[in-house]
Amino acid sequence: MKFFVDTAETKDIKELYETGLLDGVTTNPSLVAKSGRDFKEVIAEICAIVPGPVSAEVASLEYDGMVAEGEHLAKIASNVVIKLPLTLAGLKATKHFKDQGVKTNVTLCFSANQALLAAKAGATYISPFIGRLDDINLDGMELIENIRQIYDNYQFETQILAASIRSPNHVTQAALAGADVATIPPDVIRKLAAHPLTDKGIDGFLKDWKAAGQSIL
Ligand code: E4P
Repeated sequence: MKFFVDTAETKDIKELYETGLLDGVTTNPSLVAKSGRDFKEVIAEICAIVPGPVSAEVASLEYDGMVAEGEHLAKIASNVVIKLPLTLAGLKATKHFKDQGVKTNVTLCFSANQALLAAKAGATYISPFIGRLDDINLDGMELIENIRQIYDNYQFETQILAASIRSPNHVTQAALAGADVATIPPDVIRKLAAHPLTDKGIDGFLKDWKAAGQSIL
């Protein structure tokens, strides 16, 4: 499973990329607004830190506007992935970029039928939003399972990018359901490594090591 970080904060991106665990980055208009930075400037900086796919979202709702904005964003760096909303205009733009050889991430997916359409349009990634479905008492993980089944039935190459991940358990469940990628907020990525028994074990080993007067170097 690939890990993308879901943020526009370059400090977090740099720190996590240096661990060697990060394969790419996703941003959205809200995350960019939160960073308080110029959109194109921040995307260029992220692309210089992470060589993997970096999703940058269009703001237009019309096909022509999406194509114009996407073409502009694609010029920022060769690893920019154009993020498009799951609407008929967004799917038409997805097909356009597929034909141009430009990678796309179709976002705001909340149903299996939407994911089926994105795959038919030739999306590189489909982003089902797990957390936002859970928020309204639906089952986000069931959606990932259904999309996995449908894509496997027809050998669609579109990668399932589990999005709107809110907890370490979401990551485990998305991995079990066969998501190709998870895009995860920085604090949740950090939590994945943490376990109280790991900390307790380290404390115990170090205590015994010091008491025995051992050294390695
Ligand atoms: C995905 O690409 C989105 O940026 C993101 O995962 C949305 O997450 P949220 O529902 O926590 O805002």
